[in-house]
Amino acid sequence: MSTIDEYLQVNAGRREDELFELLRIPSISADPGSRPAIRRAADWLLEHFIKMGLAAELISTKGHPLVLAESPHVAGAPTVLVYGHYDVQPPEPLDKWTTPPFEPTIRDGAVYARGAADDKGQVLTHMKSVEAWLDVEGGLPVNLKFLIEGEEEVGSANLEEFVRQNTKRLACDCVVVSDSCQFSPGRPAITCGLRGIVYYELRLRGPKRDLHSGSFGGSVANPANALTRMLSALIDERGRIQVPGFYDDAVPLADEERRQFADLQFDDRAYLEELDIDAVAGEEGYTTLERRWARPTFDICGLTSGYQGEGAKTILPSTASAKLSFRLVPDQDPEKITAGLKKILADVCPPGIRMELIDFQGSPGLMVSPENPYVRAAARAIEYGFGTPPVYIREGGSIPVVSTFAQSLGADILLLGWGQNDDNTHSPNEKFSLADFHRATRASAKLWEELGKVQ
Ligand code: BES
Ligand code: ZN
Repeated sequence: MSTIDEYLQVNAGRREDELFELLRIPSISADPGSRPAIRRAADWLLEHFIKMGLAAELISTKGHPLVLAESPHVAGAPTVLVYGHYDVQPPEPLDKWTTPPFEPTIRDGAVYARGAADDKGQVLTHMKSVEAWLDVEGGLPVNLKFLIEGEEEVGSANLEEFVRQNTKRLACDCVVVSDSCQFSPGRPAITCGLRGIVYYELRLRGPKRDLHSGSFGGSVANPANALTRMLSALIDERGRIQVPGFYDDAVPLADEERRQFADLQFDDRAYLEELDIDAVAGEEGYTTLERRWARPTFDICGLTSGYQGEGAKTILPSTASAKLSFRLVPDQDPEKITAGLKKILADVCPPGIRMELIDFQGSPGLMVSPENPYVRAAARAIEYGFGTPPVYIREGGSIPVVSTFAQSLGADILLLGWGQNDDNTHSPNEKFSLADFHRATRASAKLWEELGKVQ
């Protein structure tokens, strides 16, 4: 590896420049106005793969294009699929950014930009390690396929379909995903579980127009009042979700795993300080890490109704709506959760209110056994790149297509997150440590060698 390491060192500055180039493209998947930028990001990756010496193509979908690239075939070596996403979350609120979201800026050893950690910087570590192998060695010790999508932040619906219909083309022994976090600075991790998600918009309609709350109030159901009552029926004071059947299929935390989590010595006090809150909260009987990684949740992600302007306006609003997410653990089934939610909402919806529930696509949770040869190979590569062996964690976030990879391709999953929990993903001032960017690229280069040895 010494010549590859040398190459990585000599070219570190160029790699940063290339990362910044990609970060300048505002590829916001949720925003219809960003289609040209989405296309530019996909083209940037395509050209990059071709320049590196991979066979690559753009694949159109009903939504944003996929980028698929393949390395030259090596007989007898395992096949690895690298998955990531080039789309990013909307940058709003813009006034909270210290420097503009699509003008990457270095501060305190990190690059600040939307998509820096989620997921452009992480995707690039694998592309650049492959480039190093091809430039230095002229070939790779594994067969690599890259599948980089543009719709992860909006649920990956089109990719899911593509994966199900192209299992031969995507066939592989394991899937590498770097779209999550290390445990903490200096403690790289292998992630052995992701939560799933179901997401809804609940819309309530009352009278056909906003009404004077004096003239009409008390005689007509108020959609905002109804919404708050309905939402509070979904969870009790102990943090238990009231959707019928919600916990039926949830795999409980094993004692062994609870001990492993406890061994990580998560510091609740530092957590409170970092978030500027005075208490943690959640389901009774669980620690913070257990609540974040291995228990299902209900959160209101957005809430809209009535008068939002300055001062007072006495109305009874005509509509009210909320965006709702439930994070799921294995083996909760998104469809069963939707059925249960419809039932409880219908039960608690008061007369005089019409209800509509919009179901965004859901995905189940996932667990990976740490006892598999790919995980052990990845652990060696991480130790090489980061100078310390990984800890084993779960993550509370969701990467919807990953369980489809596991099911449809029958492949083992390697979740190797290079980010940090304070990278401000989905928030203003997203960042990615440049030291981690380079360490992870070195670990990735080693990963191909280690995976190549797995029989
Ligand atoms: N990179 C995240 C997922 C993630 C975040 C994993 C933190 C582990 C820790 C990913 O890009 C993401 O944000 N996914 C969405 C999926 C949703 C839009 C369906 C999520 O988790 O909210
Ligand atoms: Zn994200």
